[in-house]
Amino acid sequence: MPVFDPMVSGLIELKRTGGEGLVAQLTSQLRSLIATGRLGKGRALPSSRQLASDLGVSRNTVTYAFEQLAAEGYLAASHGRRPVVMIDGRERIKQAGAAAAGERARKPRLSPWAAKLQRADWPMSYRGQLKPLRPGLGDFREFPNEVWARCLRRSAVRAGRRELGPVNRLRLRETLAHYLATSRDVRATADQIMILPSAQAALTLIAATLISPGDNVWVEDPGYPGAAAAFRASGARITGIRLDEQGMQLMPGLAAPKLIFMTPSHQHPTGRLMSLARRTEFLAASRPGKTWIVEDDYDGEFHYDSRPVPALQGLDAHGRVFYVGTFSKAMRSDIRLGYLVAPAALVGTLEIAQQHTGLIAASHIQEALAEFIADGHFLAHLRRMRRLYHARRDHLVEELQRHLGEVLSVEVPPGGIQLVARLKRGRADQAVVKRLVAAGVETRALSSLAVGRPRDHGLLLGFAAWRESEISAAVRTMASCF
Ligand SMILES: Cc1ncc(COP(=O)(O)O)c(C=O)c1O
Repeated sequence: MPVFDPMVSGLIELKRTGGEGLVAQLTSQLRSLIATGRLGKGRALPSSRQLASDLGVSRNTVTYAFEQLAAEGYLAASHGRRPVVMIDGRERIKQAGAAAAGERARKPRLSPWAAKLQRADWPMSYRGQLKPLRPGLGDFREFPNEVWARCLRRSAVRAGRRELGPVNRLRLRETLAHYLATSRDVRATADQIMILPSAQAALTLIAATLISPGDNVWVEDPGYPGAAAAFRASGARITGIRLDEQGMQLMPGLAAPKLIFMTPSHQHPTGRLMSLARRTEFLAASRPGKTWIVEDDYDGEFHYDSRPVPALQGLDAHGRVFYVGTFSKAMRSDIRLGYLVAPAALVGTLEIAQQHTGLIAASHIQEALAEFIADGHFLAHLRRMRRLYHARRDHLVEELQRHLGEVLSVEVPPGGIQLVARLKRGRADQAVVKRLVAAGVETRALSSLAVGRPRDHGLLLGFAAWRESEISAAVRTMASCF
């Protein structure tokens, strides 16, 4: 015997204003009550007359909803009888859960590329809310959202009026070629510049285009895990190269690699600046067409103590250097824009790879960025952030030296958005980081950025994204943890 459920109307809430009609709302709410098992199999719903009166709607509204759900198999409705639920929602959920668990346990056979990415220990996972002093971030709270929104709106309206165009927008390519030439001494024509959704996308494209299984790739040690992961996934044999005061060292004893990845403006993570002499040595040792160099200038806009050293790309006369940049640090990471300045000989190949992988940025966002830069908003924002981040770097250094000078030795970077504080007395960093994260200070262990066996122990601390009061509070918390 079907059981009458007098509470159905209490489970339904219909909105009289807003876009969705009453029939659609009622149908979807009843469907969801049945699918989740709140209205179990065999339950009799109130008659259409009763439910219409309980909900204060017309009887037709309820009849249409019942008819739709009967057509979908959720209800059995016959004339003069109350409709009865035909589906066991709880049982279906249980079955779906069991099926998903079974599928998860089956472990599909992955390609070598995907299997290597699973083991990469990257991207780093920070759980929950953003907390001080998470590294790798600029201060998105300071971003001029209103100005950016106006550029976006204008470009979206213009986009609606024009023909579909090339994936790498000419206006942004030209704007970037000019900006990079004047600010970073990058020498490239506009058609060498590819606009991508991120710097990581550029690394993925380079790896897919140039790396064959077994190729040797040098990366900095400690270094940026995203780069090692991208090249390793393509089958590269990765060698971590130690740093000295001038940055990555040249290893004449090792066979010349296929590719060298470096962050010469501010080495990731130490922030060290590669000297001009070292840049020249690397170029001299890289035979054109044999060894490629990837110069990742992820936060090169932020220099505080001296004029920046010219980009390696601009010093190269033989088209050996890829120059990679991103707007993730200088603007906001969720804008999803980066770029790649490619050696002229590889532009066509990379553009085909770009089309096949779909690593294409939305054209109205590219146009908005071109306007944002051309109208001077980008440089104005950079000037303001440079002043702000400079003060924040100094503040973090002072606070660390004052409260934690006994246990930490701070390396002051000449620019960038983060710094390394090494642990004194041979302390291991992983346990310290665990304690700090639990106390609300998000830092990353230097040893987790090692390529081989970790030799350096310390903390990677972001300063750019955090106000001086937040930095002070975080350092006090750190002091209480040591
Ligand atoms: C050295 C380095 N390169 C590249 C990136 C990635 O930039 P994007 O967000 O554009 O992929 C990061 C981000 O943290 C980085 O630290």
